Amino acid sequence: MNVILSLLFSGMAVTGLVVIAVIGWAANMNTLFGVVIPYIAGVTFLVGMIYRVVSSGKSPVPFRIPSTCSQQKSLPWIKYTYVDKLDNPSTKLGVWGRMILEVLFFRSLFRNTRMQFDGENIRYTSSKWLWIGAIAFHYCFLAVLIRHLRFFTNPLPWFVELTENIDGFFQFWLPTPYQSGLLLGGAVTFLLLRRLLIPQVRYISLPADYFPLFLILGIVKTGILMRYVVKVDIISIKDLTLGLVNFSPVVPETMSVFFYMHIFLVSVLFMYFPFSKLVHLGGVFLSPTRNLENNNRAVRHINPWNPELKYHTYEAYEDDFREAMIEAGLPVDKKVASTAGKE
Ligand code: HEM
Repeated sequence: MNVILSLLFSGMAVTGLVVIAVIGWAANMNTLFGVVIPYIAGVTFLVGMIYRVVSSGKSPVPFRIPSTCSQQKSLPWIKYTYVDKLDNPSTKLGVWGRMILEVLFFRSLFRNTRMQFDGENIRYTSSKWLWIGAIAFHYCFLAVLIRHLRFFTNPLPWFVELTENIDGFFQFWLPTPYQSGLLLGGAVTFLLLRRLLIPQVRYISLPADYFPLFLILGIVKTGILMRYVVKVDIISIKDLTLGLVNFSPVVPETMSVFFYMHIFLVSVLFMYFPFSKLVHLGGVFLSPTRNLENNNRAVRHINPWNPELKYHTYEAYEDDFREAMIEAGLPVDKKVASTAGKE
């Protein structure tokens, strides 16, 4: 799809959502936007994620297809180092090691390379920008979510307080600036600019790539506005959110229009999540290229559905077609009786 169309489509979709929130605010639809839609979003997220994970887990994996980047475990005299154990794991422990490094540190992205061609030579250089942007984005998102648990818990869990203290380390302003929220805005903007400015990435980008970025940017912007620019009534918001988790919602009489936008965009994000590329949150653990050990040389893997399957072996195939193969000039393992004597 044309880049302008993709941008227009996803930009207009997010703008439309903001307009819906404003209409809801103007019509004072506090119960719908503060209770009903967030509950629908929560249920859709949970049921959708379970459905996607279970259906993905159930899909057949007929072959052992781990992606590997180094020496496979083989005969004893062939070197199989610790790096190989991670890059080409032959045991469950190796698979876990590789998965943990991938999930926590985005290791495969860290090894990203960029191809450069100067007209004569091809050079591969290390490219870390995407890794830096992705790490910043995901860790800041996590920190923001952990801090938001303040709205849903009473008393405050220790790890929420700890995250707040670390995140608000630079107290140069009131209210204390949280680095994660501001950095999250920067990281989403970087990821968006990368899609727009690199021609190859722009070429393969679709509305499904721009929409979640715009949506998250909308959530972050309204959140930042609420914290640093327009003040919102945090006490009544906490009453609402605590009521939601205790299944006895208390709807505030008035809510800021920015809170309407924030909570509505968050609800849409949660509903959209399981049915979009964002489902990689669960999918990363389910990819057979990453969660299988490469023990092809040590273990004979038999088709689990039909171990009794009768294969048409090459020998039988040649028996069936030998004469035709010879006639066509194809090499055969065994000669037919009439030709065997002639040679
Ligand atoms: C995907 C989920 C969410 C994201 C990414 C997000 C993001 C943010 C960000 C970046 C801020 C700016 C301040 C900060 O860094 O904490 C913020 C503030 C805020 N968010 Fe969220 N938010 C999310 C979900 C929610 C939910 C479910 C609520 C419901 C209560 C909420 C209510 C608020 C409020 C009231 C503020 C202002 C906080 C203050 O003044 O201290 N957010 N949000």
